Amino acid sequence: MAQVKLSRATAGPEGAYVEELRARIEQQLAELQLPEEPIELYDAVRYALEGGGKRLRPVLLLLAAEAAGGRADDAIPAALAVEIFHTFTLVHDDIMDNAAERRGRPAVHIVWNESTAILSGDFLMGLSYELLARSRTHDLAGLVHRFHRMVAAVCEGQALDDAFACREDVSVQEYLDMISRKTGALLECTMELGAIIASADSATTRLLARTGRELGRAFQIQDDLLDLTADDPGWGKTIGGDLVEAKKTFLLLHALERAGDEDRAWFERIVREGGLATDLVPEARSRMSTLGVLQDAAAAVDMHSAAAVDALTELPDSDAREALVWLTQQMASRGR
Ligand code: IPE
Ligand code: IPE
Ligand code: MG
Ligand code: MG
Ligand code: MG
Repeated sequence: MAQVKLSRATAGPEGAYVEELRARIEQQLAELQLPEEPIELYDAVRYALEGGGKRLRPVLLLLAAEAAGGRADDAIPAALAVEIFHTFTLVHDDIMDNAAERRGRPAVHIVWNESTAILSGDFLMGLSYELLARSRTHDLAGLVHRFHRMVAAVCEGQALDDAFACREDVSVQEYLDMISRKTGALLECTMELGAIIASADSATTRLLARTGRELGRAFQIQDDLLDLTADDPGWGKTIGGDLVEAKKTFLLLHALERAGDEDRAWFERIVREGGLATDLVPEARSRMSTLGVLQDAAAAVDMHSAAAVDALTELPDSDAREALVWLTQQMASRGR
């Protein structure tokens, strides 16, 4: 995992197990057969898939299936489906966010062009449904239906994220709803797909879904925080990109809420002018630090991570459950 640098020795059995599952996913992704031409299209698809992400979602799905009493083997196609869908969202998100860097390399729309990025994203989205349909389950229609409900929510969340960048009056409540859709929906669905494949009862399914929802909040608030504060080269994205694009992140909304007159005028200008000049990013960081906004974000990440762990502890004890708790804590401590 790029941002969680733990050796097998220090990570303990949970870390070693997570690493083993991640390696299985990596191998399955490498073995996907893609057509050869048009070469630009499939080169872009391969580039996006090889990008060295954390593979968090497929690992969560395999662990959720096991924690619900099922077998990781049966959950591999759905695990690949969520990672490939996630990769599609990143390729299109980088066009929408004018982001030049992804996973430490130039984004697909920079290496090729926007048309190729749109099309390779479209291909990945279609491939995710194809892989989902290869799942071994009694309820394939239910699985596809659940997946599509997530796809709609992610599109809604991304539409709101985009619309908020042009609005001056976004509330924290609206922000939380937006991130629950753009990021939480996929994590919630990931956990639920694991439960469905394990033929889990409804109480177990609900607990795993709740875990996913809380992980989603924790994960996006952490992503907003690291967008401004990451100092690890493994971060792989441009620092301060959210402010440059006037994104209504946890940080900006809380800065506006906490600021006195002088700071409020400074942050309101970012909103009014539709973004911050890159050379002012360090000043934004220092103002936010003084206002206590970075600490607020870290506290919110901890709160939602703890709520995810609470849901997990209601599940029957298992190695997979312990690995899920471990992974949640690792994600929460990224960059600290
Ligand atoms: C990035 O997700 C997009 C968000 C939802 C914030 P990840 O941080 O999981 O990206 P990769 O897959 O590891 O690159
Ligand atoms: C990502 O939000 C959500 C989706 C890709 C659906 P961001 O725009 O914050 O993700 P990054 O920071 O570019 O990875
Ligand atoms: Mg983005
Ligand atoms: Mg975005
Ligand atoms: Mg981000």
